Amino acid sequence: MQTRIFKLTTENDSGSAIAECAKIIKNGGLVAFPTETVYGLGGDATDEDAAKKIYAAKGRPSDNPLIIHIASPEDAEKYAHTSELYYKLAKAFMPGPLTVILKKKDIVPDSVTGGLSTVAVRCPSDETARELIRLSGTAIAAPSANRSGSPSPTCAEHVISDLDGRIDAILCGGVCEIGLESTIVEAREDSLILLRPGAITADALRCVCDNVEISHAVTEMLAENERPLSPGMKYRHYAPSVPLVLVEGDEDLVQTFLINAQNSEKCALLCYHEELDELRGERLIDIGARDDLGTQANRLFSALRDADKLDCDIIYAHLPKKDGLGLALYNRLIRAAAHTVIHVDHKNINHHKS
Ligand code: TXA
Ligand code: MG
Repeated sequence: MQTRIFKLTTENDSGSAIAECAKIIKNGGLVAFPTETVYGLGGDATDEDAAKKIYAAKGRPSDNPLIIHIASPEDAEKYAHTSELYYKLAKAFMPGPLTVILKKKDIVPDSVTGGLSTVAVRCPSDETARELIRLSGTAIAAPSANRSGSPSPTCAEHVISDLDGRIDAILCGGVCEIGLESTIVEAREDSLILLRPGAITADALRCVCDNVEISHAVTEMLAENERPLSPGMKYRHYAPSVPLVLVEGDEDLVQTFLINAQNSEKCALLCYHEELDELRGERLIDIGARDDLGTQANRLFSALRDADKLDCDIIYAHLPKKDGLGLALYNRLIRAAAHTVIHVDHKNINHHKS
């Protein structure tokens, strides 16, 4: 299949590029498009076949449901049973990087929800995304626009490298503002279960709802045979082709550990900006200043893709703290690393796999 590439260059061009892409969606085709979180791979959310094409293009298991994207929060009515809590969340965070799980209505085909009775709804803040949804005249089902298993795409080049030739079109905007996927919550009667952390933090959610529970699967490994609240939790994500190992401990000890690692093995390091001087330049990827979690979020998926292209046997990254936006970084990295963490102390500071 020939994938058409549309570039959002000038204002006028943008209008017609988005309109062309909306036509493709209306006709049952697939278009990758930018959002404020990551690029999405979109198709008509009411079209059974479009959903099937999405799973095929990504190579995604069909029991892992899709998020449906709407142009304004009230549009959820058509697809899901809303609640007072939904509208409280909408008022506080929509349009924006929040996805809410609600009971679905019949118009949403089972192929979109992986057979679940619930549907994930999100109203993105990205103007291009919302214009595309508006012009398509339907909700757009869209998972992240990567091949299943690779990091979510945060720029058009990532989408092209994963999906060129497999989908109808790619709408190329710039680099995504946030760079991590949306926060996902399940809205119960008067409580929220946080299923995937993102830029809308648990503390921000607590300003709207007193009762916010963080699902244990956000930070921990699922027990064997455990059925997760969100099917996506059971799949290994963003796995680089060489092992990714997370390190934590006293700042000085960790730095010594990383210097020793550079001396004894072929490793790539996702390091903080402040460490650039101490560590050797080769296979070093700057993910931002230690305290600048926004920049780290923005660079993380690109950094994992870049690290994977380097000639190395192992990748090390810092284990993030679990508060604020750190929880989202922690969640993505711990899964990419398949929960492999080294707690650095005086005993293992020189211990490296060879
Ligand atoms: O920021 C985002 O959310 C991006 C952009 C494109 O909007 N989309 C995205 O989609 O990250 P995806 O498919 O990569 O991740 C959706 C996650 C999956 O882990 C899936 O299991 C979960 O949402 N999910 C979808 N529907 C669900 C449902 N009804 N119940 C529980 N989890 C659901
Ligand atoms: Mg994804």
